[in-house]
Amino acid sequence: MRVSVAGVELCSPIIAASGTFGYGVEFEDIVSLDRIGAFVTKGLSREPMAGNASPRIIETPAGMMNAIGLQNIGVRAFVAEKMPKLRSMKGVVVIANVFGYAIEDCVEVIQVLNDAPGIAMYELNASCPNTSHGGMVFGTDPDLLYRLAVACRLAAESSSRPLMVKLSPNVTDIGLMAKVSADAGVQAISLVNTFVSLAIDVETRKPRIANFTGGLSGPAIRPIAVRMVYEAANAVGIPVVGMGGIVRAEDVVEFMLAGATAVEVGTASYADPRAVENIANGLRRWCVNHDVARVSELTGAIVR
Ligand SMILES: Cc1cc2nc3c(=O)[nH]c(=O)nc-3n(C[C@H](O)[C@H](O)[C@H](O)COP(=O)(O)O)c2cc1C
Repeated sequence: MRVSVAGVELCSPIIAASGTFGYGVEFEDIVSLDRIGAFVTKGLSREPMAGNASPRIIETPAGMMNAIGLQNIGVRAFVAEKMPKLRSMKGVVVIANVFGYAIEDCVEVIQVLNDAPGIAMYELNASCPNTSHGGMVFGTDPDLLYRLAVACRLAAESSSRPLMVKLSPNVTDIGLMAKVSADAGVQAISLVNTFVSLAIDVETRKPRIANFTGGLSGPAIRPIAVRMVYEAANAVGIPVVGMGGIVRAEDVVEFMLAGATAVEVGTASYADPRAVENIANGLRRWCVNHDVARVSELTGAIVR
């Protein structure tokens, strides 16, 4: 079941996705964290953030919409309050998710994390608006994405930790965004983040999410995500971590056949907090039943 993502060894290709697994410590009694490949922290910013007003999560057919607003305790509190506990938990691989509203903010978050032992890798959330320059979302503009990725890759180099860029799916050409990230020298990419969406209550005629729009996730997005992972994997030579609506082992296999080296599981944890561990166990059984000796054989093995 072992896979390697940018030199980081994982005991399983299943990773718990950012924003759906807290800071890891909350799941200590629910999931055997050393039985899954890794977990990604909630997005970490330079300063603490309170997030958006409620309602900020709703259920949709085959998925959910959220506009949490990147609520988090801030990178310094994460290092001081959460990392000591995470370091004491044996066999847990921690991936720190990083975001900011300016390139310098992201760089500062990485610099603070660089001094904290026990982090295996960084995942840079490129779905944030660059509020210091007109509000364009980093991951939707190739030049902006390139500059962000280069700056963060350089910042991460002083700790020798790999940087994975998490791409926004709200673009026309995901292959281009993948290539821009690889050209910036980052060690891996992950995708997809949520799709911008709108739900309206027809009785009140108001948006169902206080923020107006939200991000759609869950099984409803899976075929789009699989297509995007396929296109991204074909555009670059670096590892691709795929996600979007994974709820069972077969979904993992689908993403791997499309070109993913590993996968992340997000919304499924809202339906069943043990989902990541159950999917990891199910994947092992699937491989045994299908004479797959090494799960890594599946990566890119789609038959066309
Ligand atoms: C409630 C919620 C909060 C999220 N917060 C973050 C976040 O802080 N940073 C991030 O990069 N992605 C965040 N995501 C996106 C997920 O990590 C994942 O990319 C997306 O939900 C698609 O995977 P899924 O269909 O398995 O949930 C969040 C998703 C949800 C549902």
